Amino acid sequence: MEIEYVRSRFIKHFDGLTGAVYTSPGRVNLIGEHTDYNGGFVFPGAIDKSIIAEIRPNGTDKVKVYCIEQKDYVEFGLNEEDAPRTSWAKYLFGVCREMIKRGVDVKGFNTAYAGDVPWGAGLSSSAALESTYAYALNDLFGDNKIDKFELARVGQATEHNYCGVKCGIMDQFASVFGQKNHLMRLDCRSMEYKYYPFNPQGYRLVLVDSVVKHELASSAYNKRRESCENVVAALQKKYPDVKFLRDATKDMLAEVKDEVSEEDYMRAEYVIEEIQRVLDVCDALEKGDYETVGEKMYETHQGMSKLYEVSCDELDFLNDVAFDCGVTGSRVMGGGFGGCTINLIKEELYSTFVSEVRKRYFEVFGKRCKIYDVVIGDGARRLD
Ligand code: GLA
Repeated sequence: MEIEYVRSRFIKHFDGLTGAVYTSPGRVNLIGEHTDYNGGFVFPGAIDKSIIAEIRPNGTDKVKVYCIEQKDYVEFGLNEEDAPRTSWAKYLFGVCREMIKRGVDVKGFNTAYAGDVPWGAGLSSSAALESTYAYALNDLFGDNKIDKFELARVGQATEHNYCGVKCGIMDQFASVFGQKNHLMRLDCRSMEYKYYPFNPQGYRLVLVDSVVKHELASSAYNKRRESCENVVAALQKKYPDVKFLRDATKDMLAEVKDEVSEEDYMRAEYVIEEIQRVLDVCDALEKGDYETVGEKMYETHQGMSKLYEVSCDELDFLNDVAFDCGVTGSRVMGGGFGGCTINLIKEELYSTFVSEVRKRYFEVFGKRCKIYDVVIGDGARRLD
């Protein structure tokens, strides 16, 4: 995505003036899915696909937004009752409101934005949008007094309060904190994080997009979160210190088996195992042991498919094809219910895999999957 592309539309759509330009990326996650809202670990990295927005204060109390790709224009005020109806505009409105709640004196502005993070593909397009504007408003109206963690929380709170998704912090964290060629391990209980250089020698990461959109997944996502909270409530009767599933072991879980539904039990089992897998993968990476990394990725896929039940036929199929082609590690990535698999693959197998997966996916599902090579890039920043 080029800055000139956005700038030319901004100039044309508004009054011919230029503004400040900001960007924030989507993300991948090597391992650690549905662990963030359970106080566990995640292991994401920002990617080279992002949202770019140009912004200029307009001296009014109205926000005027042009969404370049949809050729759609929305105007809204900055009070709680001014919420727009258009779904994409809710993200911007939410960010404005959350910044105001944190004491930033947000005023009206003109803005145009575009991006190349595929929407609804599990690459956190919405977090990219939120982080772009959170970063921008902090710079333009807040003297950068809001710290980076709080900017990530602005995006998360936007999802919770204005978009109906009770998400964790991973996506917004990755979008704000991303660093070129580095993955980040975040402990979502203590919020401590560590950058891991990621230059796998002889391997690469590739995403296969099932093109199954997961837009309608928010209620199912929220339901998964409720299951986890039910199990925490049951555990707390015996172990009052347990605040998250992160604080529990599988033995502790077994003790409350009769007090929770079978479904909730399976969800919790997956989460407890997945949190451990993140730590195992970090250890393996430090030793350059990609075989172990890959094995853990396949285990995650199994868990997400059979215990957490957030996969679908298309994603299970993509995972099977990867296995058949000798891909080192493969799994559904992100919230699930559609979107991409992430694949860790030896260089020499790359082209065979890509052509095989394209062919077989089309034969079985009659639609074309998309392939994205992963390049780990930088987080939110001003561009011009
Ligand atoms: C979505 C959410 C994240 C996280 C993932 C699953 O991307 O926004 O907070 O829970 O799903 O790991």
